[in-house]
Amino acid sequence: MDRFQVVLQDRSYPVFVGMGGLEPLGAAMAGVLPAGPCVLVTSPRVGGFHGDAALASLRAAGFSPARVEIPDGEAAKTLDTWVHLVHALLDAGIDRTTPVVALGGGVTGDVAGFAAATVLRGVPLVQVPTSLLAMADAAIGGKTGVNLAQGRNLVGAFHPPRLVWVATAVLSTLDDAEFGSGLGEVVKHAVVADADLFAFLEERHAALRARDPVATAHGVRRCCALKAEIVAQDERDTGVRRILNFGHTAGHALETALGPGTIRHGEAVSVGMLAEARFWAARGGDVEVPARLSALLEALGLPRAPPPVPDAASFARRLVAAAAMDKKSARGTLELPVPVRVGCVRLERIPRDDLHSLLSLLSSPETS
Ligand SMILES: NC(=O)c1ccc[n+]([C@@H]2O[C@H](COP(=O)([O-])OP(=O)(O)OC[C@H]3O[C@@H](n4cnc5c(N)ncnc54)[C@H](O)[C@@H]3O)[C@@H](O)[C@H]2O)c1
Repeated sequence: MDRFQVVLQDRSYPVFVGMGGLEPLGAAMAGVLPAGPCVLVTSPRVGGFHGDAALASLRAAGFSPARVEIPDGEAAKTLDTWVHLVHALLDAGIDRTTPVVALGGGVTGDVAGFAAATVLRGVPLVQVPTSLLAMADAAIGGKTGVNLAQGRNLVGAFHPPRLVWVATAVLSTLDDAEFGSGLGEVVKHAVVADADLFAFLEERHAALRARDPVATAHGVRRCCALKAEIVAQDERDTGVRRILNFGHTAGHALETALGPGTIRHGEAVSVGMLAEARFWAARGGDVEVPARLSALLEALGLPRAPPPVPDAASFARRLVAAAAMDKKSARGTLELPVPVRVGCVRLERIPRDDLHSLLSLLSSPETS
């Protein structure tokens, strides 16, 4: 098991990454939290596959876990699910020392994390990501929250976990489309901060597409190391951490405009990264980035353009409305992470009017 530390003064926490399963989870948790009651929060799907193993491991380490299920998938990342979960946690008899153990994909992690941040003004949180996307990105960093009709992640809190347990063996039950979506966030980390990882993805794309466990674990490990390092430098997302938003301005607008459940998060980020790289190349940025990115996304089977929409004009209007709600916009400008070269991204303020040309790249059916 590799161990990375997110160094945050008195809120530091370990991220364990290994190719095994959930059996050692309880013992690792006992290393950071006193044994006693806890609540395992999972979804029916993930809980069906991995809930019993997680509960057995927690019990073996002296914890007495309750189990609560919430729906997952982007459409379930709502205030209603949060309310339901907060009631269930209180009904389970939690106090301020009772850890919430989030077992699931990024949606479960974000909603359970937001409940842990808010119920009783905050209880300890443990993240046990089970999707590739959550392992490579969402479980580390303490961002929690839910979506509103106006846009994604518009209500939330920073609530750092006490432990992140990344066991890549649980990916065996993830379906291919969700695995592919997770690869989108792996590519993002490579473009943003790791040229070697990008070269690895280019070289091993066939193995990754075939879900080779060793290649996958290498990608996950690199992403966890990078995210731990970046979060330690900027926990509250006021500076360098914002480079991780590469692909997300266009990607979030796309997800909101298409509606929940239409495109997966990692797929939207994939389309968004290419649009943002092309946008910047057209303004004098490095042209190699969109060229290599496009080839890599294609090799990994990731989308490079949005799915066809019945009414292009209304879709374009929805894109603009969605982008207007972006948390990164302020005083007539929008902050955009732009690729300097593969493995290096910097933050740039662009006039809000330029947003239209960025978004027009999303309306284009072109796929190469
Ligand atoms: N907090 C952050 O820093 C952060 C960062 C990136 C993304 N996110 C959020 O993550 C969310 C996307 O996460 P996601 O793609 O994991 O979505 P998700 O949680 O909805 O999971 C996707 C699907 O995979 C299934 N699944 C997950 N693990 C499984 C497993 N091991 N076996 C079988 N099925 C499994 C789930 O049941 C679900 O149907 C988005 O809401 C995004 O905003 C958060």
